[in-house]
Amino acid sequence: MVILSITSINKFPMAAAMLLLGLVVANFGITGAQSVGVCYGRLGSNLPSPSEVISLYRSKKINRMRIYDPNRSVLEALRGSNIEVILGVPNPDLQSLANPSNAASWVQKNVLSFRSNVRFRYIAVGNEVSPVNGGTSGFAQFVLPAMKNIYNAIRSAGLQEQIKVSTAIDMTLIGNSYPPSAGAFRDDVRKYLDPIIGFLAYARSPLLANIYTYFSYVDNPRDISSLRFTFFTISTCMGWFSRIPNLFDALLDALYSALERAGGASLDVVVSESGWPSAGGSATSMDNARTYYANLIQHVRKGTPKRPGRAIETYLFAMFDENQKNPEVEKHFGVFFPNKQPKYHLNFASERMWDILAEYNVTAAGSLISNM
Ligand SMILES: *[C@@H]1O[C@H](CO)[C@@H](O)[C@H](O)[C@H]1NC(C)=O
Repeated sequence: MVILSITSINKFPMAAAMLLLGLVVANFGITGAQSVGVCYGRLGSNLPSPSEVISLYRSKKINRMRIYDPNRSVLEALRGSNIEVILGVPNPDLQSLANPSNAASWVQKNVLSFRSNVRFRYIAVGNEVSPVNGGTSGFAQFVLPAMKNIYNAIRSAGLQEQIKVSTAIDMTLIGNSYPPSAGAFRDDVRKYLDPIIGFLAYARSPLLANIYTYFSYVDNPRDISSLRFTFFTISTCMGWFSRIPNLFDALLDALYSALERAGGASLDVVVSESGWPSAGGSATSMDNARTYYANLIQHVRKGTPKRPGRAIETYLFAMFDENQKNPEVEKHFGVFFPNKQPKYHLNFASERMWDILAEYNVTAAGSLISNM
């Protein structure tokens, strides 16, 4: 908590100090110490070893991680780290896990045997599967059976309240997203999605959603120009860019509306990926990407217009630039270079109080609150 031992602030006007402390105290109560998470994508030939990566997370105070498969070296490196983990089931494994005994072995091998000192938070059963996307439609029939089987195995171990079973969707499942209150899933995915939503409500699990304002912007210039018309009074590119958080809110609230229309009003959404590339496509630059990540980290603490005041659990995509991904733009989503140097100056465990200190330009005031 706040320690008010003001000893060496003689260069610091007392009135300003008290105002500052008041603001710190007032704001500390509404934020947790929780950081955003970061997705540990591993499709790079030049990435650090898993144990180096875990150390990097810890040194940067990133205490949530999404991984995409149950790689042994990664799970071993996570032991004792205290990092909360979203563990992915790769899409090609879904069919096998639609068999209950395979799912039970999978859970035993990849979850229960690490459970004593790895903090699993969610199991993401499948990523961005869509019954109407040629690339993933073949997996669709296995998603719900695999979810149920994994849930049953988790429940047999009595862990169903600690480790939630879900799946990660992308926003192509949304038909109408504007205005957010009219958000609805595509009619042709409802047969796939409605039973999943019903299961998540039953299991009291959140839905995971990968939400890219970047791709919404690049893929739907027509929709976005209508958003721009509505939201943005400044027509320059940077004027538009500074309003990106509104587009993020709009997409997330469209998803909440879609869930309400599909019987999922009780569900929470966890943003299981969001990011902006620094190169390789239109509107990409180091500056745009830095602005996006920095704004996103600040923004998600506040909730959306539909769910105000409650932080949105969010995972940045991704930890590193990944040189084995395609197309080119996909290689540039890292917030670190593969040599572990940060691409941007980001404060992952950002607290409201640090913003205030920065605003007041009070670097020396760290001693005032060093014991929080
Ligand atoms: C797990 O990750 C390690 C380290 O990156 C890699 O060498 C290994 O091949 C991976 N194992 C599997 C089964 O993919």
